[in-house]
Amino acid sequence: MREFKRILVTSALPYANGPLHIGHLAGAYLSADVYVRFQRLMGKDIVFVCGSDEHGAAITIKAMKEGLSPQQIVDKYHALFEKTFSRIGISFDMYHRTSEPLHHETSQEFFRKLYKKGEFQEKESEQYFDEEAGQFLADRYIMGTCPKCGNGEAYGDQCEKCGSSLSPTDLINPVSTLSGKKPVLKTTKHWYLPLDQYETWLRKWIETGELDGKVLHDPDVWKNHVLGQCKSWLDGGLQPRAMTRDLDWGVDVPRDIKGHEGKKLYVWMDAPIGYISSTKQWAINNKKNWKKYWQDDETALIHFIGKDNIVFHCLIFPAILRAHGDYILPVNVPANQFMNLEGKKISTSRNWAVWVHEYLDDLPGREDELRYAMIKNMPELKDSEFTWKGYQDANNNELVNNLANFVNRVMVLANKYYDGKVPAFDEDMDFIGPDDQYEAAFHDSELLRLFDDSHELCDFLRKFDFRSAQKVLMDISTRGNQILQFNEPWKTIKENPEAVKAVLNLCLQYVAAMAILSRPFLPFTSDKIRTLLNLPHLEEKGELNKMLDQLSEGKPLLKKGHKIGEPIHLFTRIDDETIQKQIDKLAGSSPVEEPSEKPVAPELKPEVTYDDFQKLDIRTATIIAAEKIEKADKLLKLTLDLGFEQRTVVSGIAEHYSPESVVGRKVSLLANLAPRKMRGVESQGMILMAENGDGKLSFVSAEDGWADGQVIK
Ligand code: MF3
Ligand code: ZN
Repeated sequence: MREFKRILVTSALPYANGPLHIGHLAGAYLSADVYVRFQRLMGKDIVFVCGSDEHGAAITIKAMKEGLSPQQIVDKYHALFEKTFSRIGISFDMYHRTSEPLHHETSQEFFRKLYKKGEFQEKESEQYFDEEAGQFLADRYIMGTCPKCGNGEAYGDQCEKCGSSLSPTDLINPVSTLSGKKPVLKTTKHWYLPLDQYETWLRKWIETGELDGKVLHDPDVWKNHVLGQCKSWLDGGLQPRAMTRDLDWGVDVPRDIKGHEGKKLYVWMDAPIGYISSTKQWAINNKKNWKKYWQDDETALIHFIGKDNIVFHCLIFPAILRAHGDYILPVNVPANQFMNLEGKKISTSRNWAVWVHEYLDDLPGREDELRYAMIKNMPELKDSEFTWKGYQDANNNELVNNLANFVNRVMVLANKYYDGKVPAFDEDMDFIGPDDQYEAAFHDSELLRLFDDSHELCDFLRKFDFRSAQKVLMDISTRGNQILQFNEPWKTIKENPEAVKAVLNLCLQYVAAMAILSRPFLPFTSDKIRTLLNLPHLEEKGELNKMLDQLSEGKPLLKKGHKIGEPIHLFTRIDDETIQKQIDKLAGSSPVEEPSEKPVAPELKPEVTYDDFQKLDIRTATIIAAEKIEKADKLLKLTLDLGFEQRTVVSGIAEHYSPESVVGRKVSLLANLAPRKMRGVESQGMILMAENGDGKLSFVSAEDGWADGQVIK
């Protein structure tokens, strides 16, 4: 990425319809926070905005379920979000909300501008309508089967399984999420953004970074999965997309627009504009100019999101911004994939989640431990997994044994030998370097090495590779431990006190560097280390930049004679019992389905007449023998007793039942099916089986004690 004068970072506005879980954090917030803190430490002009997404069906449906008004719902969760984000150390410069008047005005102004420019197409169309609820069904008000991947629980705007963006009319077997009924079609008018007309420039901009003859971004630094999703969307052909809805909750279509009555802005039109409103509010609070961050091409706009939001941020919002004309486009959208939990997909409705506010209550003071474990497993390029065991291991083996141990040892020794003062040492004094026990290392060469490592860490952060960056942080700590281990100052203090001074001075420089380098990942720990060192907490105003300068010039970070504080343990072990409690808590969350996840009505086969049905001769029967058929994994050869005769039937149940287990079973046999040869065996009929959604099978039979050969009709 080229150097920009300033950076604007956004994190996806979370829907204010439920608490935050670790999947949210892993998607759009934690990585953004790491990135922003890093850039602040480098002295960059950077603003980090977010806010609650308070419109759309996600909110009104939740309100209905809880028997509250939409406003009550968003108030409740907005307050919880603000608090939770701040507790876990997500350092937004502004956390706004889309129900604020400033946002309504901003998005209306935006809409009006597009309308006046003639960017919209006004179109009447037939849309699904729920007659019982008296409401049009867009977005999450309608569910059905995804035409792309077959997911039976796709929403009217999107399939969360395959990420496709959808229209209600794309859904197979649509049902209203309000009444569970099949909707009817009804005519209504809306304003559409002609995405199809933008396809050419969007494709070029995404694929080459070029727009109007200028190179705006480098596609090589975009994540492959992000580009891939955009391309497949473009390849599928863009459709005009309605920017308004028939709803009673949301931002009103401006009154001066003819036909505005009863119309609201589409939530995916208003929510991203929330980034702009949030920036405006920040500018008001801080007496800054918001336009610089949105309308100057010296600004790098970066959207942090989860993968389910890719198309909205890479295609639709850029199209909206460009249709307006005054705005810059994002220079990168480093979307994360999903984080699973203990082998399963995180599910709000099934309560299969680690709720961030509950974590903070259950494990108080362990903010950085969660951040660390999550960054270690950040789903940057592919889906990843959070496990409580992994969390415990990361804490005990890495934070406690490596980082806390190093810092503690250095503090203890410096207090013991030098009364807590950074020791002066002979610059030419050599000591043992950890790479080669037999070779001497010098203080200044080790400082340069610390510089190199810090530099590498920064490079990873710039490339949005947060996992690798955090790994380097721990490698630096490992190195510090090795320096101690190889020199064993507790043994050599008597015979070679001068060398010990050099070693401990160096280790203290390491600790000072860790205080700054850890800041993006572990902000609370950074504060603690700074306190240990008797230094003020970081303001995140260029301290890392300054540190790199100092190290590159071989200057120490802590002056000789600087008095440090008393040692403490930065991290403590987490025992099995604590972990087990959390695992039990998860296990206690029974996979109960919420009403919204009602099974979607399947598509039935074409109608048949009673006469058609009458043609089938179905009989009760008993399996009296069964054997496998060679080289056919799925087939069993069954011998059936019908009372009046025996039949051989080949049945595709071998993957579900062993031959022994089916002998004696009562079954139903379609007895007049034309015989057919399978794997050389003539099958004289077919037994009936029920099959569930997971592909499991069950026999279908008359009640126990029934004679064989009886008619089923
Ligand atoms: N609320 C949306 C979600 O949770 C994200 C909105 S991002 C924004 O999926 F761009 F619209 F703000
Ligand atoms: Zn799908």
